[in-house]
Amino acid sequence: MCGIVGYIGREQAAPVLLNGLKRLEYRGYDSSGVAVHSDGSLRVVKAKGRLDVLDGLLEQGTKLPGTVGIGHTRWATHGAPSDINSHPQTSDGGLFAVVHNGIIENYLHLKNHLTRRGVDFVSDTDTEVVAQMLEYYYKGDVLEAIRQVTERVQGSYALGIICADCPEKVFAVRKDSPLIVGLGEGESFIASDVTAILSYTRRICRLQDREIAVLEQDRVSFYDPELYPIEKPAEQVEWDVASAEKGGYEHFMMKEICEQPEALRKTISPRLQDGKVVLDDVCLSREQITRLSRVYIVACGTSYHVGAVAKYAFEKLLRLPIEVDVASEFRYRDPVLDERTLVIIISQSGETADTLAALREAKRQGARTLAIVNVVGSTIANEANDVLYTWAGPEIAVASTKAYSTQLAVVYLIALYMAQELQALPPEELDGYLQELQRLPELAEKCLEDKETIQYFASQYFNAKDMYFIGRNVDYAASLEASLKLKEISYIHSEAYTAGELKHGPISLMEEGTLVIAICTCRRLFEKMMANIKEVKARGAVVLGITTQELADTLAQEADWQFCVPRTADFMLPSMSILPLQLFAYYAASMKGCDIDKPRNLAKSVTVE
Ligand code: M6R
Repeated sequence: MCGIVGYIGREQAAPVLLNGLKRLEYRGYDSSGVAVHSDGSLRVVKAKGRLDVLDGLLEQGTKLPGTVGIGHTRWATHGAPSDINSHPQTSDGGLFAVVHNGIIENYLHLKNHLTRRGVDFVSDTDTEVVAQMLEYYYKGDVLEAIRQVTERVQGSYALGIICADCPEKVFAVRKDSPLIVGLGEGESFIASDVTAILSYTRRICRLQDREIAVLEQDRVSFYDPELYPIEKPAEQVEWDVASAEKGGYEHFMMKEICEQPEALRKTISPRLQDGKVVLDDVCLSREQITRLSRVYIVACGTSYHVGAVAKYAFEKLLRLPIEVDVASEFRYRDPVLDERTLVIIISQSGETADTLAALREAKRQGARTLAIVNVVGSTIANEANDVLYTWAGPEIAVASTKAYSTQLAVVYLIALYMAQELQALPPEELDGYLQELQRLPELAEKCLEDKETIQYFASQYFNAKDMYFIGRNVDYAASLEASLKLKEISYIHSEAYTAGELKHGPISLMEEGTLVIAICTCRRLFEKMMANIKEVKARGAVVLGITTQELADTLAQEADWQFCVPRTADFMLPSMSILPLQLFAYYAASMKGCDIDKPRNLAKSVTVE
């Protein structure tokens, strides 16, 4: 969702804010703005459109002098993208400027309340109500006004605030939306995400719900919701600046696709020691695993698709009932959970609103929770009973690639760890799987070597209106992700179906030239897939088969095109088959001239419901 940044220091604020916003633009990109303390008053510049528009208006920041300010890049929730709805939002009397990520759920009620008392609103946003309330409750003490406002607003917020009366301070507060404070030498920052400030500092503090930070040039003070001062330890961020930059690639997405072998290595290697799986500090003893009656996997989007693969892996290795749920459904459907349920929560950002709510619901019902998260210290990581990090580094492109691969790796690690503790597999079989897992990075490297074949294939079909992905078992799970990847960045309509379902409806969509991408890596179900391919071909479909070398000759008898991926253990095959299909989505989008890293209507981190 939206990105916020704030600065106070010796430098000119506007260029620092613009630089931070550039790195946060993946969170929202329909409008942007900054507010700076300038010559004794608050000056606000904001505009609908990409950050370039604001950059132009500010002439790279030079137009807005001042060393204290806040900035915002927006993903509209309340009010269409427009200059007036852009942030910062200001109060009627011009005393406060506010940037906000989240949703103020009771904003209409609060707005009506203030309107009746003579306050004039100019925007359609929920955020304006915060700025107006701050001024309404302000009696010379900004902290007290913030306390009064946060007591009254419902919903989620990360807020950066400046007040005309306090030219040497930036205020920040959050609830259920991420916000960090960066500590530099003679300068301080706030940001939605650490990537915005990595080039200035790697020392950060994370605000907890309703904690308030007051930033001054040489110090930052923290307060609890009742305004008692608190100490907060600083932590050092491991990510380096280069990892959040394109490094010569045209798009973050291609960089991140190519980073997958290394990300897999970092995620897997430390957890395989002396032929055993070692899971950091995760508390899942043999007794606890034995007592489990059910495992739920809950996530959204790509992370949910990891769950779809996990179901096959867990059931095969553990013979334990597994349910995979979309978080937005799970949270409202009153799932049946107890202390014998393990709920595995998967989230790259660790901040997805529905996934976080699902985690809280699981904990409320007494289930044990284990989170697979990429962002260290994120809310989900903090709140789950146990956390396993994917060591993918920052993922900037909206379309998830290396997060998917590393989440899959962690899922395999968990399943194999549980099998190891339960002695659920013969030792040679377990050993074989561990060796395959160890080889995944090298196999991914090999698979990504041939980009040209996929690029050529994309050049033949990037103009297609529709495409269908079919598969069975884990190949179906990979189809779900391949289809999402294609539609989110190339805007080509696509669907994923279990191949066995074709005859129950979707086959009516097949006609001359329809493109079907058939993932057929599962040996056990290969003959069935061949039969499905014949059926769609008989209706005129063109078929690209994704398979492994030893099945290629047979597949070639039916498929029009094919691409071979390296073979590994059956349940790990999605880690291979997804790679050419990520590339296919990338090239198709690129050939269509789409904005690959920032697809329309999407944002990287969905921190609102
Ligand atoms: O940060 P999370 O893993 O919780 O995000 C979940 C989804 O929003 C995310 O995977 C989304 O589907 C991606 N854009 C897919 O590429």
